[in-house]
Amino acid sequence: MARPKVLLTRRWPETVEARMAEVFDLDLNRADRPLGQDDIRNAMGSYDAILPTVTDRLPAPVFEMPQARTKILANYGVGFAHIDTDAAKSRGITVTNTPDVLSECTADIAMTLLLMVARRATEGERELREGKWSGWRPTHLIGTKVSGATLGIIGFGRIGQAMAQRAHFGFGMKILVQNRSTVAPEVLARYGAEQVASVDDLLPRCDFVSLHCPGGAANRHLINARRLDLMRKDAFLINTARGEVVDEHALAQALWFGTIGGAGLDVFEREPHVSEELLGADNAVLLPHLGSATRETREAMGFRVMENLVDFFGGKTPRDRVA
Ligand code: DGY
Repeated sequence: MARPKVLLTRRWPETVEARMAEVFDLDLNRADRPLGQDDIRNAMGSYDAILPTVTDRLPAPVFEMPQARTKILANYGVGFAHIDTDAAKSRGITVTNTPDVLSECTADIAMTLLLMVARRATEGERELREGKWSGWRPTHLIGTKVSGATLGIIGFGRIGQAMAQRAHFGFGMKILVQNRSTVAPEVLARYGAEQVASVDDLLPRCDFVSLHCPGGAANRHLINARRLDLMRKDAFLINTARGEVVDEHALAQALWFGTIGGAGLDVFEREPHVSEELLGADNAVLLPHLGSATRETREAMGFRVMENLVDFFGGKTPRDRVA
């Protein structure tokens, strides 16, 4: 039987690409630049599987291909809001993602951002590198104490829980949780956490708020001007989820006018574009979507995609099927 024809939309770790090439008839996007929607629509005519990632956009029109050959979109990443899963389903195309394997590293980046913004690490490093450090003094770059503070976690799936573990066990933080569904009492108890009824209830009670909910239309601008106003003036917002969850302009205003203390962001509304108003905010720590960016995790994501494909083409339901 002919090997399934598979397209990787971006370059992956070499170890995974090499293994994939042993099993599939693999095409790589050698230039490693994001493909356009037309490129992906055309690819649907000639590949059995397309392996997109967060830099690809697959809205409904991409699926309007009279004779699609593609049977599976095996996403490289846990978030899949960039794929119109209803359109995929209506065309009989299976969609999978890569949960679990990136939870720890994404929570590490959320905690990194939290610590950096609370302790003004970016400001301090910039000052030092620019030769502006005049020496130790009691009033220099005073930050906010993390240990024992209250952390609100919005979205209590795998990554939210990995964040709670770090915050509770590592820093003795008090954890408040907001989640679409009720979290099992034993899960809350594990982190000494309390579930609150709504985002509005959570925000005024927190020193730090960390977002771990999915992106997509349902959560677009979940954190908007009104909700930023509910946060304490000295509280910090951390976003490692998806850029669209936060109204970025409203956030920039809150940072500039000091209606919140600061923000740590790994994701943005129009990646890789980052607005001037955010770039100019000293009380924001900004990272270029590094959540899952460790060798171990990026390899594990690739092998998880491969497992989904092997199952699918072997006639089994892939373990990470989302549509
Ligand atoms: C994820 O897995 O969702 C990461 O943000 C990369 O897409």
